[in-house]
Amino acid sequence: MNLFDVYPINPITITRARGSHVWDDQGNRYLDLYGGHAVISIGHTHPHYVDRITRQLAQVGFYSNSIRIPLQEELAEKLGEVSGKGNYQLFLCNSGAEANENAMKLASFHTGRKKIIAFRKSFHGRTSLAVAATDNPNIVAPVNQTENIIFLPFNDEQALEDCFRKQGDEIAAVIIEGIQGVGGINLANEQFLRTIRNCCDAYGSVYIADSVQCGYGRSGKFFSHDYAGVQADIYSMAKGMGNGFPVGGIIIAPHIRPKHFMLGTTFGGNHLACAAALAVLEVMETEQLMENALHIGDYLVDALKKIPGLGQVRGRGLMIGFDVPEDAKDMKKNLLFRHRIFTGEAKPNVIRLLPSLALSREDADAFLDAVSQEVQHSRFPVHS
Ligand SMILES: Cc1ncc(COP(=O)(O)O)c(C=O)c1O
Repeated sequence: MNLFDVYPINPITITRARGSHVWDDQGNRYLDLYGGHAVISIGHTHPHYVDRITRQLAQVGFYSNSIRIPLQEELAEKLGEVSGKGNYQLFLCNSGAEANENAMKLASFHTGRKKIIAFRKSFHGRTSLAVAATDNPNIVAPVNQTENIIFLPFNDEQALEDCFRKQGDEIAAVIIEGIQGVGGINLANEQFLRTIRNCCDAYGSVYIADSVQCGYGRSGKFFSHDYAGVQADIYSMAKGMGNGFPVGGIIIAPHIRPKHFMLGTTFGGNHLACAAALAVLEVMETEQLMENALHIGDYLVDALKKIPGLGQVRGRGLMIGFDVPEDAKDMKKNLLFRHRIFTGEAKPNVIRLLPSLALSREDADAFLDAVSQEVQHSRFPVHS
């Protein structure tokens, strides 16, 4: 049987990983500034993480949500503590798309309304409602098309207020990434997020903070949306939550009340997933990884801005993007094959950095050196 060929892949086989590094089957070491798409939060194969999951697997790996799973309560407690949202309620699932799907569904149940506001260049996942709220017609199948999603320009307060004025009583939710990832590392203005909060309050709509990529400490705060100083009604999470173990979830403000069977899942919140998620939070706390993300992130952004010839640099904490000049458009490929550094990308010509939150200054310097060399090389190519 062949694999269903939906991914353009790099010809590299990773056989070992530790911290911010991975090794291929030839023994070559790579610096990982991509984290398998923002997933590796505490570093590859962290000993505490491996130990907690291994011990859990030997005890009980899975049972469904038909029984009490104290690990879920322990996770909710810890998550409340680390995120500062102890009065929220936790619903666990398995991925980012599923988290957003449940968030929008819950908003619709709660308000009895159908319309969702999303923004240009958004990415919220590939399941039916999540992909409908994603601004990329190429990945929206005919069956996913719906008139219930209203796309507005990102960071445009006037457009948002006008839309609410016209049809506020039909709006179930506004969904927004605190920092657009797939869209090219675009920060939501703090004032814009406050306007979302105000509109949702005025019209009884639900503010959904998609924190799947920008959340879980990556920005230096647990949720990047919280830089705006207002609370969302629902925060969706996945990626860094399990450091590679598939786990996602939403946390829900206390005024949104649950009803039996309104949401559900077979695998979500299983014992192994909870052990992985707990290990991540424990390491984040003991190793002060949010502080490190902020510190190394600021250092990287400042240094990248000083590299002559590089385009605009954007980001917060360890979610950073920069525009690659046309004459250096092969930079991502060159970083990988010449310098053995994994990075991410976004169209058009944006390099995305989504490393482990434990990235060291030394590894940041190695990357900066490689970028400087690439820019230099593209401006003054050496022909052999
Ligand atoms: C902001 C955002 N939301 C949702 C998703 C979907 O997450 P998943 O791939 O886990 O379904 C992604 C994935 O890239 C994302 O970046």
